[in-house]
Amino acid sequence: MTDPNPSPRAFSASAPLKGRIAIPGDKSISHRALMLSALAVGTSRVTGLLEGHDVLATAAAMRGMGATIERREDGEWVIDGVGVGGLLQPHEALDMGNSGTSTRLLMGLVASHPITVTFIGDASLSGRPMGRVIEPLSQMGTDIVASPGGRLPLMVRGLAPAIPLAYRLPMASAQVKSAVLLAGLNTPGITEVIEPIPTRDHSERMLKGFGADLNVETDGDGTRRIRIRGEAELRPQTIAVPGDPSSAAFFIVAALIVPGSDVVIANVGLNPTRAGLVEVLQAMGGDIELLDPREVGGEPVADLRVRHSALKGIEVDPAIAPSMIDEYPILFVAAALAEGRTVTTGLDELRVKESDRLAVMAAGLTAIGARVEESADGLAIDGTGGDPLPGGATIAGHLDHRICMSFAVAGLVGKAPVTIDDMGPAATSFPNFEALLESLQA
Ligand code: S3P
Repeated sequence: MTDPNPSPRAFSASAPLKGRIAIPGDKSISHRALMLSALAVGTSRVTGLLEGHDVLATAAAMRGMGATIERREDGEWVIDGVGVGGLLQPHEALDMGNSGTSTRLLMGLVASHPITVTFIGDASLSGRPMGRVIEPLSQMGTDIVASPGGRLPLMVRGLAPAIPLAYRLPMASAQVKSAVLLAGLNTPGITEVIEPIPTRDHSERMLKGFGADLNVETDGDGTRRIRIRGEAELRPQTIAVPGDPSSAAFFIVAALIVPGSDVVIANVGLNPTRAGLVEVLQAMGGDIELLDPREVGGEPVADLRVRHSALKGIEVDPAIAPSMIDEYPILFVAAALAEGRTVTTGLDELRVKESDRLAVMAAGLTAIGARVEESADGLAIDGTGGDPLPGGATIAGHLDHRICMSFAVAGLVGKAPVTIDDMGPAATSFPNFEALLESLQA
């Protein structure tokens, strides 16, 4: 899936960003919409699906396991499912490209089907830990043979019927939670996930929407107990995917830091398990207004009006991390322009994303003249107080879409241009990122 020909790009000091954009569909919701539609009995329709490489990897995988998935000319996706329990043996290895979500959620689906599937991926994905899903799925009886360190390529030999499990998540991970719940779909009896720290709940919402028997109880201390009854029959749905807050994040921060900017970002998903960045940026003094709050596809959504603001550094509460886990790279860019010090902690998980996002952001920001201290689980950044960053460096994106886009935004406030060695990875989650940026500069 990775383009063998790198696309280097330089981003330089920008005129004020003005206008209105709509960002593409939510990546997490798009994956789940395809997976559950492919398991329903009958025809589902999805609009607003993110057509990034990661989601297309999920579509190809579900086709490889028997679902019929077509994109109509008007952009609607039409999916004929095979029914829970009906996944077929794929003829070849499933290529997950750069996508950790595809890999971990599909490992869960395959785990309770009587098929054997080999998962492969690009260099970034092949370096990421899969032990976190191998562990619970093995307890359900699945046989998984992985490369050293619990990595890709790996082979999942599913077991049907699998053994139901009650699993307490050892880390805050929606992917691990979802893998176990999806394995539970075709497992007799009740499969339970105990989640001490809440993470994005798109799987729970959508499983219920498709008619699965799923309930969530929250204990006094906030621990969530999610139970799903297996051997479910999913009913086909019509789904409108809201815009991705993790993609909106780049334009929110761009509008906040480029002087004179005033931008409306339409249709942004604001599920509380995803909206941490807006809260943190508002606490830093960011002028972000929520317009026309409404519901799309069972998820809260609003248009965001964002104006250039004088940001102030803050100490970010680590408890908010799960609701903005993918937004730290771009938050670090905002912090580099704020007045005073921003301190972040509790971010060990960032070291096992598409790249080690703490190390890569610290190195890149330092290279463009920001003042950054890296600790084991966070960064402390002393901002410029709104003055432009020196810029003038080439940043290695490490096959990490969010690193590439974060430094592209940093380039918009650079005295000298910031060059990204390869902008290709942006297409994993945000294929029209550069086109939207240009439309706001026009
Ligand atoms: C995702 C969960 C998060 C997030 C990823 C998408 C999901 O990963 O970083 O981009 O769709 O469930 P973790 O579960 O590893 O935190």
